[in-house]
Amino acid sequence: MAIEFPTYIEQLKPYIAGKPIEETQREYGVKRVIKLASNENPLGPSPKAIAAMKGAMKDLQLYPDASGYHLRTTLAKLEKVSFDEVILGNGSNEVIELLIRTFCVPGDFMVASDGVFAAYPISARIQGVDTIFTRMTQDYRFDLQAMLEQIKKNPRVKLVAIPNPNNPTGTYLTESELVPFLAAVEKIRNGSVHVILDYAYWEYVTAKDLPDPIVLYRRFSNVSVLKTFSKIYGLGGLRVGYGVMRPELAKYVQKVRMPFNVSSVGLVGAKAALSDKAFVKKSIQVNKVGMKKMRKAFDELKVPYLPSQGNFLLINTRQGFGLSGAEVFEECLKMGVIFRPVANYGMPDFLRVTIGTEAQNKIAIRTFLKLKKNKKA
Ligand SMILES: Cc1ncc(COP(=O)(O)O)c(C=O)c1O
Repeated sequence: MAIEFPTYIEQLKPYIAGKPIEETQREYGVKRVIKLASNENPLGPSPKAIAAMKGAMKDLQLYPDASGYHLRTTLAKLEKVSFDEVILGNGSNEVIELLIRTFCVPGDFMVASDGVFAAYPISARIQGVDTIFTRMTQDYRFDLQAMLEQIKKNPRVKLVAIPNPNNPTGTYLTESELVPFLAAVEKIRNGSVHVILDYAYWEYVTAKDLPDPIVLYRRFSNVSVLKTFSKIYGLGGLRVGYGVMRPELAKYVQKVRMPFNVSSVGLVGAKAALSDKAFVKKSIQVNKVGMKKMRKAFDELKVPYLPSQGNFLLINTRQGFGLSGAEVFEECLKMGVIFRPVANYGMPDFLRVTIGTEAQNKIAIRTFLKLKKNKKA
């Protein structure tokens, strides 16, 4: 092909998604496969969302409400912000893309830490925006001082990505770390550097010192908050997420958003999920119990892991099994369990394990136990 594509497209490394169940069944000839690879809710979708979506199917000939009126109204009430401050996206991933498109021209920069959720550098690069990465601290947390230095040093930095907790590390920034950082960034270049606080896992958080993002949003003028229906509400396949941002900014983001980016079924399902308090409560509980059980199992197996505030654990396979994350991933696939290797995050010796149902966790633990025994034999 004689076409020349932009260098940043040529060199783009695409997002690596979790391996699908069916593909694993086909390739490995195993019947029973469980997937603990994509931080999905193991309880399935919110039942209230399913019921509402079934009802919405009969109107599928109609285009969705481009303004997302009902969902945005409900979200505005929930977050105690105005309707104009809520932006809907095809997953919160789309809101990341929209913010980059709104703030940046090719040649601008985003600042993020090594180990940051991969959608950030990919979405940026697609739009000709490179990411300036800073090193993680020794305990795999973001180094805010290093990030601040890069923001100050490079006048074309427009955005800063802060998933809190981060995926895949699960580590987080405390209120006493984030507040001075945000205050300092707000003072740089007239407050023109924007910080994305991504709280995809907020509902799972138990740490008291992990700050409420809406409180930070109220306090700092240059902050937007992202949340999603893909995790606690069990609607990863529906693709609905949202951002909370200043109306002056949201006005521009609305301009760059395609009118029907969230489907009519998505709008209805997400709104119903918000009312499903029992499901959210159960999901939190299942994760809490499962997390405890998995941590205990890894402690017993002498497999180190990073402390996590999400619905997943990042384990050190090199120290735990003497193998790379990819090797453990492969061994587990043969036993019908899909986890997530994270070499693409520059962490070849780690594997991300999503917390499942009680039954799934048991299978996962048994799989790791077998692997440990095989290694010893
Ligand atoms: C930190 C973080 N942000 C955002 C998302 C994406 O969510 P969505 O499905 O809403 O696009 C994920 C999904 O894994 C995530 O880990």
